[in-house]
Amino acid sequence: MGCGASTPSSASVQGSTDAAASSQPQRRLFVGANWKCGIEAADEAEKLVADINKAWGASGLAASIELCVCPPAVLLDRVRSKLDGTISVGAQNVLEAVPPASKGTGVLTPALLRTVGCSWVVLGHSDRRNTFGETDALIGEKVAQVIGVDGLNVNLTVGETRAQREAGDALAVIARQLAAAAASVPATAWSRVVIAYEPVWAIGEGAQPCSPEEAQRVHAHMRQCVRQHAGDAAAAACRLVYTGSVSAQNAHEYAALPDVDGFVVGRAGLQAESLVAVCTALARAAKPSAEQR
Ligand code: PGA
Repeated sequence: MGCGASTPSSASVQGSTDAAASSQPQRRLFVGANWKCGIEAADEAEKLVADINKAWGASGLAASIELCVCPPAVLLDRVRSKLDGTISVGAQNVLEAVPPASKGTGVLTPALLRTVGCSWVVLGHSDRRNTFGETDALIGEKVAQVIGVDGLNVNLTVGETRAQREAGDALAVIARQLAAAAASVPATAWSRVVIAYEPVWAIGEGAQPCSPEEAQRVHAHMRQCVRQHAGDAAAAACRLVYTGSVSAQNAHEYAALPDVDGFVVGRAGLQAESLVAVCTALARAAKPSAEQR
């Protein structure tokens, strides 16, 4: 399965396997709000931004959590201009092709994203992998393009489908997805990478939720994969977040896990109150600092 991880049934949820990482400074907590196409009107975006600004300002969480809002591309400029300056803005995609076609008609280049104040790019989401057919190789190429631009950071999503999990391939699939992306990240750039674990089988209405124990086992495996590909410092610097049906109600269950450094939310990010409630649950469960572990 790669990366030397234990199987989901045998690993322990007690404590992080992240021994090397624990000797490093604490990673900053991260929450991403991927709006997908949940908002398509400018006035709705402005209303949500105003609500987020108010709730975020009142929460006092700016010092402890890095919050990033990812609207549809055509709303990036508008959202950036109205959003609280302590909140980052991210794009949901970049490019549509690898070089030499990457400056062609309709292409969203990394430089264009920087022009509108974007600092994160979501890559590898299951929508892109499974619906739009993006391969590990294409996603790796996009990671290289993004990480090569100063000021841009990568929010990479990995995760197995139901069929892959049922075939016992979950950890191998995640190891493969991570390996393809890791090859594109310079050794010193891992603090600019957030990796989201998305158990594709656990998302959507009525799906069986991923248990916190399973999430922790996969996150520990992911940390081990990063360590294997890029070393201890990379594993310590890289943030691992959980995604898929995270809500104000269940965020606390995942927030306390030792290898969970935050979340990406979809639906919960379309409402200011639930977005800030997820952030609050994360901050409340904040792990002890590295020195105290
Ligand atoms: P959800 O979306 O929080 O609405 O499940 C998460 C995602 O797809 O990234």
